[in-house]
Amino acid sequence: MSKRVLLIIGGGIAAYKSLDLIRRLKESGVSVRVVMTKAAQHLVTPLAAGALVGERVFTDLFDQAQEFDVGHIRLARECDLVVVAPATADLMAKAANGLADDLAAAVLLATDKPVLMAPAMNPHMWANAATQRNLKALRADGRAFVGPNEGEMAERGERGLGRMAEPEEIRDACLTLLSDGPLKGKNAIVTAGPTLEALDPVRFLSNRSSGKQGYAIAAALSQLGASVTLVSGPTNLSVSPGVKRIDVESARDMLAACEGALPVDVAVMVAAVADWRPSKTAKKKIKKGEAAESIELTENPDILATLSKKTKKRPALVIGFAAETDNVEANARAKIARKGCDWIVANDVSGEVMGGDDNQVMLITRDSAQLWPRMSKDLVAQKLAAEIAAAIGGKATRRK
Ligand code: C5P
Repeated sequence: MSKRVLLIIGGGIAAYKSLDLIRRLKESGVSVRVVMTKAAQHLVTPLAAGALVGERVFTDLFDQAQEFDVGHIRLARECDLVVVAPATADLMAKAANGLADDLAAAVLLATDKPVLMAPAMNPHMWANAATQRNLKALRADGRAFVGPNEGEMAERGERGLGRMAEPEEIRDACLTLLSDGPLKGKNAIVTAGPTLEALDPVRFLSNRSSGKQGYAIAAALSQLGASVTLVSGPTNLSVSPGVKRIDVESARDMLAACEGALPVDVAVMVAAVADWRPSKTAKKKIKKGEAAESIELTENPDILATLSKKTKKRPALVIGFAAETDNVEANARAKIARKGCDWIVANDVSGEVMGGDDNQVMLITRDSAQLWPRMSKDLVAQKLAAEIAAAIGGKATRRK
């Protein structure tokens, strides 16, 4: 049976692009059913959308005929993916707060399927603290996002972040979320980025990790069908559609978020966790004259070792990263033994790796070592995801 998308068209000027999205999804063999909000109907007509999907468009929660015909609960469930495009500030606010005062909002509350949102709004509305709060809440609820992009707005002369992603991009994100990859049904945790260890409300200890490799691994696992929770320290990166991101600052928060995400099948610990934190965090900014001459440090928990050594809920496959400059394989093997993990991806950090787009790694398992050629972090991620799929996915036999 072909995959089914329930497309909710919100009331943004970008609604006209959603008609093109319907066409592109259908070209990819996906069947589409449409819900339109009242506001959307000012911009495109149900007749136009209905002609493209070849069936009626659903618009009313309280229309007896529509409710008896399909009903909002069936609409919410009889699909493989719910897509909101354009996702207006209003629809995001409703979904973030669990409101259900119209058909679109009720469907979003009732669905048990993955939800992809393609926001579109004026840059000021997007940047508004309320919208950003809602975005954070929706991400934490596991909602996937594509866009918004930077560019010209419908309002004359306005530019900025807020344009809806193009129909092709939204279609690609849909196809990723609809894919039946070898890791479908598997759960993964990935940690990424630096941790930030507060000294007082304005000062902290941290490191230069960009988070790129971890984000790429989260995306690659998700593309193979895994449900991925990315536990991320502060970065400037945006997360791939379908990946649930939990933002943390300190190592202790990162550990708590990882433990909260268990049980999972695979854990990939890519974060550059600070080994030490200030022993005391001052509640108020430390004044110049009051600062001690040295900062006392306390060792942070080792997240990789903690997950590896769990007796209950230990992930079937725990993978660590190791930055090495010499004796890469021997040092990595020692690290596997010390931390109790299954595999180590050893970076050779003698060149430029931190923050760069390329990586040179060696994958070390308990009984093998493969040196991969220098390649992009995206490719490293895809190759690693393929190895993970071979080990724990689908019908393949487990390798450790
Ligand atoms: O001991 P080292 O820092 O070299 O180990 C690196 C690996 O351990 C990485 O996978 C990193 O994410 C993980 N790690 C951790 N918690 C720490 C320190 C490192 O999960 N406190």
